[in-house]
Amino acid sequence: MEIKEPGETDLHKLLRQMTLEEKVGQLNLLHGAVDADHTAIRTGAVTGYLLGPPRWEKDQAFSWAAQTNALQRIAVEESRLGIPLIFSRDVIHGHRTVFPIPLGQAASFNPELVRECAEIAAREASAQGVHWNYSPMVDIGRDPRWGRVAEGYGEDPYLCSRMAEALVRGYQGADLSSPERIAACVKHFAAYGAPLGGRDYDSVEVSERTLREVYLPPFQAAVRAGAASVMAALHDLNGVPMSINHALLHGVLRTEWGFTGLVVSDWGAVADLLKHRVAGDEAQAAVLALQAGIEMDMVSGLYNKHLVELVRDGTVSLELIDSAVLGVLTLKKKLGLFEHPYVDPEREKTQLLTPANREHARRMAQQSCVLLQNKNSLLPLARDIRSVAVVGPFAESKAELLGTWTLDGQAEDVTSIIEGIRETVSQQTRVIGGGMHPESAVAMAQEADAVIAVLGEHPTRSGEAATFSNIGLPPGQLEMLSQIAQFEIPVVCVVLAGRALAIEPLRRFADAVLYCFHPGIEGGRALADIIFGTVSPSAKLPVTLPRAPGQIPIYYSQRSTGRPPERTARYTTKAIDIPSTPLYPFGWGLSYAQFSYSNLRISPELATDGQSIIVLATITNTSPSPGTETVQLYIRDEVRSTAPPQWELKRFLRIELAAGASSEVAFELASADLGFWQHGSSWRTEPGLFTLRVGPDSQGGITGQFKLLEQN
Ligand code: NOJ
Repeated sequence: MEIKEPGETDLHKLLRQMTLEEKVGQLNLLHGAVDADHTAIRTGAVTGYLLGPPRWEKDQAFSWAAQTNALQRIAVEESRLGIPLIFSRDVIHGHRTVFPIPLGQAASFNPELVRECAEIAAREASAQGVHWNYSPMVDIGRDPRWGRVAEGYGEDPYLCSRMAEALVRGYQGADLSSPERIAACVKHFAAYGAPLGGRDYDSVEVSERTLREVYLPPFQAAVRAGAASVMAALHDLNGVPMSINHALLHGVLRTEWGFTGLVVSDWGAVADLLKHRVAGDEAQAAVLALQAGIEMDMVSGLYNKHLVELVRDGTVSLELIDSAVLGVLTLKKKLGLFEHPYVDPEREKTQLLTPANREHARRMAQQSCVLLQNKNSLLPLARDIRSVAVVGPFAESKAELLGTWTLDGQAEDVTSIIEGIRETVSQQTRVIGGGMHPESAVAMAQEADAVIAVLGEHPTRSGEAATFSNIGLPPGQLEMLSQIAQFEIPVVCVVLAGRALAIEPLRRFADAVLYCFHPGIEGGRALADIIFGTVSPSAKLPVTLPRAPGQIPIYYSQRSTGRPPERTARYTTKAIDIPSTPLYPFGWGLSYAQFSYSNLRISPELATDGQSIIVLATITNTSPSPGTETVQLYIRDEVRSTAPPQWELKRFLRIELAAGASSEVAFELASADLGFWQHGSSWRTEPGLFTLRVGPDSQGGITGQFKLLEQN
């Protein structure tokens, strides 16, 4: 029997048995498992596979569970050391049960529901052999030209951080080795959401302060919540490609935050270093990435091609390889793969798309759809309305409701909006539908008592590599609406989107506007639930809606400038051809109920550093219908040594209130919530006056103040 050295774990022992080639193989993630040459598995030259959508998937008999088990069997039974493979996939907003896109989930301001959805995604994906998920994407998105804003949780670091934690907990649970859990991979580290001109993959120039205050907090929140892995982004940050950004990958992630999980490159990013022109050849690219902290190479193959030689010639140390290999083996161990390498094939047959999962998708979609305006309380419509026309390019859509990044969602699982409406209205109601083309839509609208126009953007206009310079409504939609408007029939516009679109012109033609991020498989029913009042809308905008593309970037927490915008004063911070306010602010969203805010109490009003601040407010439902309000708490540091943001979201809470009911909400703020980044060093707070606002969005509400006292 082999004697273990003191402090040696099973993994160290395994490491000692591995050849250099096998070690390097553990750092090599490939794509296209089904096509794979199984020699790579048998010889230990591959650590696992990124499961892409193979053509076999369309074959009804295809089983991911059987497929991954078959490959796993080769690794476990036929490779020299039997190290299990890891299978990864992008399960971005649900697996077979597709939930609203992440931006829509953020609109719920409901981290608990988001966590439950992630848990369902984990259960479904793991049933098909997935161990490792490239989610959550926690990149702050403040430029809606960038198509990947759809995959993130909006413009605000606090909201995004709460969502990041919820997703990590939802995927991983308390015990990652449970067969129904998958490892999270928080991405794309870091500041990937701020590319020049919104062009995907372009360079990012952000100051240290903005990086610390805006872009990094959601990553830190995910790490604190226990994220098992981090993906480095594809871009260069202030000139340093993230795949070789030692300062962030080591200095911040490992040293400051104490992250002990795995760091993986993004797709082909190690090879991209040649195109970034920071590496002169492939071998140099591999060395630079490994030395900077990229432990696993996603599909470029350069680690596998060069690292053995580079260790042999002394360029790369064996310690560096061993440490990266231990990172990979540790993740496999945490996932329980050494003990349970196979997935139970029965789960795939019973755990996907269950009625309970669909019910979650419906609730999530109900809570992700924002009511922007509701003139004359047009909504909700009566279920026994005589006739309603459901028109527009997405009235009958199925696949389009799924949104971007849905590898496993299927059009046949989706309830279209017109189907959802048909299921909901009374038997006597005539649903005039299918007006996909403008002429027929206009003709149909004429015959109806109300029109529901389903507009917006196709999901392929959002997501990866889907930068759009013109973020207005696609051509033809406004023209169709203007023709419908001439009949003076009430018009409800449902806008489907993967981003903040510039929809100002639409408001002229619409009585009610529901802004709905691509809502997933139950989107049709959820929208019908809202339109006909089964539920009251409760979502709030996780992004600012601009009036026009030229206003970008526009977000609520912009810093205070020396010349705050003033409409009538020329030399102030604004464009002269457009108001400086957004079309709708961050946090905005109406309900069928109305809420009033009163009785704000802050205690203590004179606080010492380290003391908690308790904020109480009373929210009253002043309407005859029940509703849910998301109460938002913002702060503003009145004077400090660096220009502060105008307002910063610090807490939020969803509360349900019956007609006429009141409730007191309580928030607790810690000193850390009052801090800002002091250039080159750390977080600090400065004594002085703070204003607090509790309200329904980032502009309204009631205010009060407290003072942070000087330290003795
Ligand atoms: C590239 C994308 O940037 C990343 O988000 C994704 O996880 C990988 N491809 C793997 O599909």
